[in-house]
Amino acid sequence: HLNPEAALALGQFDIFPLIDSTNNAAANAIRDGRGWGYSCLAEQQTSGRGRRGREWQSPFGRNVYLSQVWEFQSGASALEGLSLSVGLAIVRAVSKFGVIGLGLKWPNDVLYENKKLAGILLEMQGDPAGVCQVIVGVGLNVDMNGADTDAISQPWTDLAQIVGAVDRNKLVAELMSSLHLVYKEFLAGGFAVHRDEWSRHDAFAGRDVKVQLGDTYIEGVVSGLDRSGGLVLMTAGGERVFNGGEVSLRSA
Ligand code: ATP
Ligand code: BTN
Repeated sequence: HLNPEAALALGQFDIFPLIDSTNNAAANAIRDGRGWGYSCLAEQQTSGRGRRGREWQSPFGRNVYLSQVWEFQSGASALEGLSLSVGLAIVRAVSKFGVIGLGLKWPNDVLYENKKLAGILLEMQGDPAGVCQVIVGVGLNVDMNGADTDAISQPWTDLAQIVGAVDRNKLVAELMSSLHLVYKEFLAGGFAVHRDEWSRHDAFAGRDVKVQLGDTYIEGVVSGLDRSGGLVLMTAGGERVFNGGEVSLRSA
C-alpha cells in the first residue's frame, strides 16, 4: 500500500475542458482503481453541485473546479472536521494572493465580507468503519464574469472583485500544495491541529444564529468549535454541539 505522501506524488491528474462534475470524475477514478492521490481540474462543469444536490454555478474558463481523492484508514467518524480543515487549506492558499480577512463558515464555506468565495463538497466512499476514500471537491470563484449569477441564492464574490486579476496557474499550484499539507496534518492529528487557526477566521463566532436540522430551527450564539470540529452553540436550553452532515447555519 502506498503511503499518503507517495500517493499524492504519484497520483494521476486530469484537466477537463468540460465535464459534468469533477467530483464525478474523481468517483470514476476510484471505480477504475486509480483513486488514491487522484486530482482533476475542469474549465467548466455542466452539473457542478453543492450539498444536498444544490447547483454550483460553474461557468467556463475563469474559476477553479478541483477534486482530489484522499484515503483514510481511520473510519468515517474520525473525519468529522475534515471539511473545516479543507476550508483552512483554501484560506491559506488564497491569502498568498493579497486577500486579507477571509472568513470561514461552519461547516463548508469560505467567505469574504460575508459573501461566498469558495465552497467545499466532500463525498465519502468505502468502508465507514475502516478504509475510506474521500472525494474533496473545491469550487473557488476567481472571475465569475459570464456566470448566471441570478441563479445564486445568497451573496457571493470572486477574486476579481477583491484583488483584481489573479494568475490562475499559480493559484491552483498554491491550492494543491496547501491541500496536500492539510491532508498530511489531518492524518497526523485530525482537526484538533487546525482548530485554533480555523477559529481565527471564524466568521460566525459570537453571532446570533439559527441552525436548521431538517425542518426544525435552533437559535443560539456561536461559542466556537469542539476538538473534533462540532459547532458549539449556546442556546436558551444550554450548550449544544452540532456535527456537519445535514445541518445548515444561518444568521438569526
Ligand atoms: P448550507 O449552509 O446549508 O451548507 P450552503 O450555503 O453551504 O448551504 P450548499 O448547500 O452547499 O450551500 O449549496 C450551494 C449554495 O451556493 C447555493 O445557495 C447556491 O445558490 C450557491 N452557489 C452556487 N454557485 C455558486 C458560486 N459559484 N459561488 C457562490 N455561491 C454559489
Ligand atoms: C458548496 O456549495 O458550498 C459546495 C460547492 C462545491 C463545488 C465544487 S466545484 C468542484 C467540485 N465538483 C462539484 O460538482 N462540486 C465541487
